[in-house]
Amino acid sequence: MKDSNFLKEKNARSLWHPMAHPADCQNNPPTIVTGAQGVRITDIDGHEVVDGVGGLWNVNLGFSSQPIKDAIAAQLDQLPYYSIFRGTTNDQVIELAEELREFFEPDGLTRAFYTSGGSDSVETALRLARQYHKIKGEPGRVKFLSLKKGYHGTHMGGASVNGNANFRTQYEPLLPGCYHIPAPYTYRNPFNETDPEKLAQLCLQAMEDEIAFQGAGTIAAMIMEPILGAGGVIVPHESFMPGVRAICDKHGILLIADEVITAFGRTGSWSGSRLWGVKPDFMSTAKAITNGYFPFGAVMIAEHVAETFEKDETGKAAIGHGYTYSGHPVGAAAALACLKETKRLNVPENAAARGAELYAGLQSLGAEFDVIGDIRGGHGLMCALELVSDRDTKASIDKASTATLQEVAYQNGAMVRISGPNVILSPPLILTSEDVQLILGALKAGFSAL
Ligand SMILES: Cc1ncc(COP(=O)(O)O)c(C=O)c1O
Repeated sequence: MKDSNFLKEKNARSLWHPMAHPADCQNNPPTIVTGAQGVRITDIDGHEVVDGVGGLWNVNLGFSSQPIKDAIAAQLDQLPYYSIFRGTTNDQVIELAEELREFFEPDGLTRAFYTSGGSDSVETALRLARQYHKIKGEPGRVKFLSLKKGYHGTHMGGASVNGNANFRTQYEPLLPGCYHIPAPYTYRNPFNETDPEKLAQLCLQAMEDEIAFQGAGTIAAMIMEPILGAGGVIVPHESFMPGVRAICDKHGILLIADEVITAFGRTGSWSGSRLWGVKPDFMSTAKAITNGYFPFGAVMIAEHVAETFEKDETGKAAIGHGYTYSGHPVGAAAALACLKETKRLNVPENAAARGAELYAGLQSLGAEFDVIGDIRGGHGLMCALELVSDRDTKASIDKASTATLQEVAYQNGAMVRISGPNVILSPPLILTSEDVQLILGALKAGFSAL
């Protein structure tokens, strides 16, 4: 490693960071993380903190999962790469597909299509959804529905179904035929409705209304996160996703569950769809599938969709989609080891228990600090605080205050993520109660400094 003076001097000079203004990164250079153990990360100055972000919603098992590291190293020696485009495959992807099939069997998902990450998985699901309808003889079903506030990655298709302007405006025009339904977001919504169940019904009615307006026969799929993550941990009422499923069924629209962050235990359930008792037609996964140690993802496909493709005799089911790294053997080996560890550690149980502690602690902070406008969570280790400068008007907090909050929390032992007016918490699922208290204490110090 180059010495710390070199790294600090060159920080953000010759690289652009994702989701950041290049000049801002140069003026306020990012924290240089140089090591990690367990649930803690260490920066270039040796300062160690609990990672309240969990990498980026992906390091569910922490930074020291030896079985995954060993599997990656062993696979690099055995077969570091080979393609699985038609004609070749490898042992790891075969074994992983069987494991994933067993894992997602309760969700009704029985086939895997491999990708290199979440955006790839979303793009794959959107494309296969259109193809499904073409095979079924309904080529006019090409449009997509999604939720405002939803996050579906940054490929052109994913950005088009995204529900936040900051991932869209500078990249327009996006894909035509994408329409957005109000999110079940009790703190701010066009209906002025704060009751979660009533709001869920209003959003479902809006979905029905949009379908009637567009014409059901023009719509391929609805894509949604079971709990909206990057948009600020928006937890719908339990009736919402089953309601979406019912509307999709009624109109022949496929349901894509975007579980890039919710699959593999984060919500306290093995998948977000299972949390709400819904069986989607496609599920996009990535992130925690390898504990973040290797870029990899899988789109899981429902049995009836798979049969439609596999029994097709028109020739329309040949898949003209895939990536050089679809089915990377090192990624598949990492995923196999990760799945085994994830099950062995039974992470949803700890996610639920620690998540409840974290959510309760955040509510106590909410009672103490007026800048906390809304507290969201309650299902596993995904929580958010929405900050305001005025509780009555709900005017958003200024950037300087959120920056101070983050810095003081960091100095007091926790890395937390600021996204717009939201503090988002998505720590590793192996967190202890002490770690939860440490994060809460660091946040309290941060709020006290405002
Ligand atoms: C629900 C959801 N979908 C898709 C993505 C995109 O994943 P990636 O950043 O791996 O492309 C994310 C990333 O956070 C996500 O949260």
